[in-house]
Amino acid sequence: MQVISISSLKGGVGKTSITLGLASAAWAAGVSTLVIDLDPHADTTTGLGIKHDDMSTEIGTMLRKPKQFRLHEHAVTSGWIQTNHRNGTESGVLDVIRGSAKTSLFEKVTTRRREINRLMTLLDQTQGYDLVLIDCPPALNGVTRMAWAASTDVLLVAEPSLFSVAGTERTFRALDLFQREYAPKLRNSVLVVNRVRAASTEHKYRLAEMRRMFGKRMLDIQVPESSNWQQIQGAAWPVHAWPGDTASTAARTFDRLLQQLHQPQVSSRRALHG
Ligand SMILES: Nc1ncnc2c1ncn2[C@@H]1O[C@H](COP(=O)(O)OP(=O)(O)OP(=O)(O)O)[C@@H](O)[C@H]1O
Ligand SMILES: [Mg+2]
Repeated sequence: MQVISISSLKGGVGKTSITLGLASAAWAAGVSTLVIDLDPHADTTTGLGIKHDDMSTEIGTMLRKPKQFRLHEHAVTSGWIQTNHRNGTESGVLDVIRGSAKTSLFEKVTTRRREINRLMTLLDQTQGYDLVLIDCPPALNGVTRMAWAASTDVLLVAEPSLFSVAGTERTFRALDLFQREYAPKLRNSVLVVNRVRAASTEHKYRLAEMRRMFGKRMLDIQVPESSNWQQIQGAAWPVHAWPGDTASTAARTFDRLLQQLHQPQVSSRRALHG
């Protein structure tokens, strides 16, 4: 089971949007996926069409007593899938573990392994998914560190702007230090740049700067700024099902991003589904 944390120190750079884009690509490719919303704001939960009155156990409660819960028993089916079923369309597994403000109880940074390993303990008891996507809060706090400790991959998200580049450098440094001590399963940490405007001179400059700083850790795939992104997210809809050329270009970008991060499983599923 591959576990990818989507993370950044800076807020608003697109962690939730990238999580939703990857979830949409996994959904379209038929990859059995669990999305864990670890941000107390719970934007991913909303974006995946989980209703406000949903009563499923949220992640904050399960993190308090990780040995007592199996995530797959508390996951809810994404609203994307439910809508699709009503339309009579077949699709793969896309489950969600709801986020909630209770997660903020774990924000304090600690060096105690029992605390850091809470999410890892939950995931060790989880079955039935090929891919787990974790949307992290915008901070290097205890919650993000729990996500990193449980992950096989970390995808950092940055914008092509001065402060985002500086923040990414600090985040990579913190991640590398943390990995040695606390994240034995982590094998891959890379950067994707979001909200890129190809015609912007400032963006070209920042992209070249990031390439010099991060080398191969910066993925070639970049996510362009897209005019209808908020509309798609506001409708709690997968980008792969949204009509129009702009959405379908964004969907192809997320297909390539997923293939780069999750190659073996995607290709085997594609082969299975013809
Ligand atoms: N590629 C994009 N094109 C256009 N708008 C985007 C793009 N990526 C993100 N956005 C918009 O930018 C805003 C912030 O994005 P998002 O919520 O994904 O960031 P975040 O890093 O998860 O934020 P936070 O740190 O608050 O959790 C949202 O309104 C989102 O729709
Ligand atoms: Mg977010």
